Amino acid sequence: MAANAIEVSDLRKSFGDQCVLDGIDLRVQAGTVFALLGPNGAGKTTLINILATLVAPDSGTASVDGHDVVADRDSVKRAISLTGQSAAVDEVLTGEENLRMMARLSGYSAPDARARAAELIERFDLADAARKRVRTYSGGMRRRLDLAISLVATPPVIFLDEPRTGLDTRSRQTLWTMILGLAAQGITIFLTTQYLEEADLLADRIAVIDHGRVVAQGTAAELKGRVGGEVVELRNPDDEIVRELPTDGTVQGLRTAIDVLDAASVPGASVSIRKPSMDDVFLALTASHDTTTAAAEELEVIR
Ligand SMILES: Nc1ncnc2c1ncn2[C@@H]1O[C@H](COP(=O)(O)OP(=O)(O)O)[C@@H](O)[C@H]1O
Ligand SMILES: [Mg+2]
Repeated sequence: MAANAIEVSDLRKSFGDQCVLDGIDLRVQAGTVFALLGPNGAGKTTLINILATLVAPDSGTASVDGHDVVADRDSVKRAISLTGQSAAVDEVLTGEENLRMMARLSGYSAPDARARAAELIERFDLADAARKRVRTYSGGMRRRLDLAISLVATPPVIFLDEPRTGLDTRSRQTLWTMILGLAAQGITIFLTTQYLEEADLLADRIAVIDHGRVVAQGTAAELKGRVGGEVVELRNPDDEIVRELPTDGTVQGLRTAIDVLDAASVPGASVSIRKPSMDDVFLALTASHDTTTAAAEELEVIR
């Protein structure tokens, strides 16, 4: 196994005159969970599709499990699984039949395929749906089946494109548990998400992508470090947040922040201090594109 399960170097992709990926560099260590975090339209799916060999890059290089995504597509395809490939689902078959078929195609013996299908049906709460034809499924059932199918096999690298979309709380918990379990087996998970707490919870490393560029990369703790040490909150007597100021966490930084809040002189207000959330990280890192806004000034770390 390659030490880096995924390597991306200066990857570029445009659709017409729209530049969607503007020079992406990434490395994902084998056996880790990597989260690509970014807003809608940031280029996440395009990057996953290039890594999964569904879309060709314009320039730059990318390899998955040691295989080049352009020169060695077949090897890459054998090394991965990808969600959202509902084309793999046979509408006429039942959910259970689909799962068993995928398990057989992935090399399971007939009894093992049956067991694997049963396990996934249970985990993704598909018991009622398992014996019905997929054609009759609701959107939510389809979504759970799609995820279950993408997790039938355990190839070296699994791509999950916004996996939590359309999942209920219970299925989401199942998914998270499965992701961490797969990583513990040495499988590399590359997921995309718009949800900061999901990246924070699951990922060993996070890359924040915006307008086709990686604007920050690191562990959740490192990213939080870039935003500041502590956030000072000012709350009114109804316990509503009136203002939040990121600080560097030093005594001087906190003192200055409290002076700023004091000057706002909200009657009966109270002050509390908290660690920055991933939301703070994301806002701070992406707002820097547009430093003229009041919001960006508000996010300036007080030192
Ligand atoms: N096949 C395509 N043809 C034209 N434009 C596309 C295509 N795929 C994606 N785009 C555009 O590229 C941008 C990034 O899309 P996408 O990679 O799906 O972002 P994300 O997954 O982060 O929401 C969007 O503006 C989208 O409209
Ligand atoms: Mg997408």
